[in-house]
Amino acid sequence: MSNNKPVVVVTRKLPEIVETRMSELFDVRLNHDDRQMTAAEIAAAAQEADVLVPTLTDNIDARVLAKCSGRCRLIANYGAGVDHIDVATARAQGITVTNTPGVLTEDTADLAMALILAVHRRLAEGIVMMEEDRFVGWSPTHMLGHRVHGKRLGIIGMGRVGAAVARRARAFGLDINYHNRRPVAKPLEEELGATYWESLNQMLARMDIISVNCPHTPATFHLLSAPRLAMLPPDAIIVNTARGEVIDENALARQIESGALGGAGLDVYEHEPTVNPKLRNNKRVVLLPHMASATHEARIEMGEKVIINIKTFADGHTPPDRVFPSML
Ligand code: DGY
Repeated sequence: MSNNKPVVVVTRKLPEIVETRMSELFDVRLNHDDRQMTAAEIAAAAQEADVLVPTLTDNIDARVLAKCSGRCRLIANYGAGVDHIDVATARAQGITVTNTPGVLTEDTADLAMALILAVHRRLAEGIVMMEEDRFVGWSPTHMLGHRVHGKRLGIIGMGRVGAAVARRARAFGLDINYHNRRPVAKPLEEELGATYWESLNQMLARMDIISVNCPHTPATFHLLSAPRLAMLPPDAIIVNTARGEVIDENALARQIESGALGGAGLDVYEHEPTVNPKLRNNKRVVLLPHMASATHEARIEMGEKVIINIKTFADGHTPPDRVFPSML
């Protein structure tokens, strides 16, 4: 990168304060109308840039990367998940990839907990009832849901977000269990009061609530496959604030529809923004529009991370949030 300001292409509209700071520091090309760029447009823009700042809605695959080669040396993703970027190919082409971990942890965990409460306590139905002015008074059998306190929670992926979900869930009186590639350090396990299950199948068979908190990688694609979903007890519910691809969405829809599963709270989808029609208009399913990190605070802090990653890289240092293929 030259001593001049790096040319930075940003594919989506970012919070104003982030764009203002980027404009001060970099020679930045912003997307003012937030129109989603095509793969060809991203590749063309990246050919003229030192740094590309995509988001999860951009598919930075090998074909796009092949066209980026030459000038672009850094992909500073605005977001934690990097499953839309072919990190291995980028590395092979000498392009560094960074992300924005840590700053959306608490907000995502809040939403996972909100979904658990929403599904078990029928919050979406209650809100609609009030909006439609259908509340005719309290009755002993009105709007019965399920108690959250005392239920067994199985967290898939005990990273930052999984641990933050566990902390919240513990305060709600849930029994904390988790499956991970390997157990977390003992002090953290003790702090969370969490039980490690080496076998995902064994854990699934014994849980009331599953929270998906692992990244989407080739190893976790359809981790919750039809046979695995069938291992869950029939009243069990699943919440997913990670990535839709971790669950076989068709199988999930079928099993909820048939009563083989208790319900689901979903913030993410396998073919976003398309949602399986069978999941819609089902009282046992609460759907949100991928909004777990949608707080002003998180989105500004994500921008700050992007800026720090670019600045550090442009100054000739290793950016703090570098992503390596071995991490995925
Ligand atoms: C991420 O950063 O990957 C999140 O999914 C955005 O909400």
